[in-house]
Amino acid sequence: MSEPVETDDDETDPQSAIDAQGEQRRAELDDRIFEHNAGDEQEGIPFVGAGPGDPRLLTVAGKELLEDADLVVHAGSLVNSELLEEYCDHAETVSSIGKDLEELIPLMRDAHEDGGNVVRLHSGDPAIYGAALEQMDALEHEGVPTYFVPGVTSAFAASATLRTQLTLNEVSNHVAFTRPQGKTLTEEDDHIGEFVEMGDVTTCIYLGTHAVADTMDRLIDDGHDPEIPVAVVYHASWPDEDVIYGTIGTIGEKVKDAGYRASAMVVIGDAVTGAGYERSYLYDGWADRGPDGDADDDSNETADNEQTDPAETTQ
Ligand SMILES: C[S@@+](CC[C@H](N)C(=O)[O-])C[C@H]1O[C@@H](n2cnc3c(N)ncnc32)[C@H](O)[C@@H]1O
Repeated sequence: MSEPVETDDDETDPQSAIDAQGEQRRAELDDRIFEHNAGDEQEGIPFVGAGPGDPRLLTVAGKELLEDADLVVHAGSLVNSELLEEYCDHAETVSSIGKDLEELIPLMRDAHEDGGNVVRLHSGDPAIYGAALEQMDALEHEGVPTYFVPGVTSAFAASATLRTQLTLNEVSNHVAFTRPQGKTLTEEDDHIGEFVEMGDVTTCIYLGTHAVADTMDRLIDDGHDPEIPVAVVYHASWPDEDVIYGTIGTIGEKVKDAGYRASAMVVIGDAVTGAGYERSYLYDGWADRGPDGDADDDSNETADNEQTDPAETTQ
């Protein structure tokens, strides 16, 4: 772990800690990047992705860390209480909802320094709209090591529910994880229209359940095709999961009628239906390319991606 940075700033101010850690990150790469693989248990406080809700969609690494924890600081109602009951009944559990960094950091630091196993549990994957790094930087600045343990992000749970892929040959070559304008994002920084305009992008909107109608109205005002498919998956993988299908022209009303204001994934694009794709090159002759085929570069790594440009694989 890199040494805590000494600054003239007030060490208890999280923003000073974030700035100092950022400076250090710019100046030199963290040795731990090269010492550990993702998934390794490491020294310090793990920032664990709880997955989308169903406790069975927690990773094995996450489950083991929770089972060993003395204190679990979790993301409140975004984390299924069944998961907490199943894996954390021996631990103290604290919701982070309504707590600022000034409260969260000493809580986790003190428990760690007292010798307890602390787990910070985020919903989905902590790297997506998780505000994890600022907590980690503030802790590291106080000498408490931290690390990420990935989870299943809700867009992936939604695609599983929809029984489709987010990338689909000849339909969608790209995925955008995004959020709509609002308190955090200005109108200029809302790029949903640009992603939709690209045509071969599946747009997954986080933090936008309350704004589905406004978002769709804006797309229509900007001239986008109102027939483009949209699915809204509420509480993907939870017992009360719900799916609403529509189009840019119809989904706003449908979500309003359903009354959902939070906890849904909005997916825009033709991949939503899983229709209209072409068979992939991978399972159309390329697999029989023979022993001379060069299978050790990314252009040939199609087993998961299955969307290979023939020109890239016949070198
Ligand atoms: C603060 S963000 C956290 C995202 C999380 N880190 C992840 O990777 O899924 C919360 C947003 O994620 C989405 N979300 C979280 N859990 C969900 C679920 N089970 N089903 C659908 N959307 C979900 C919703 O859009 C919600 O507004």
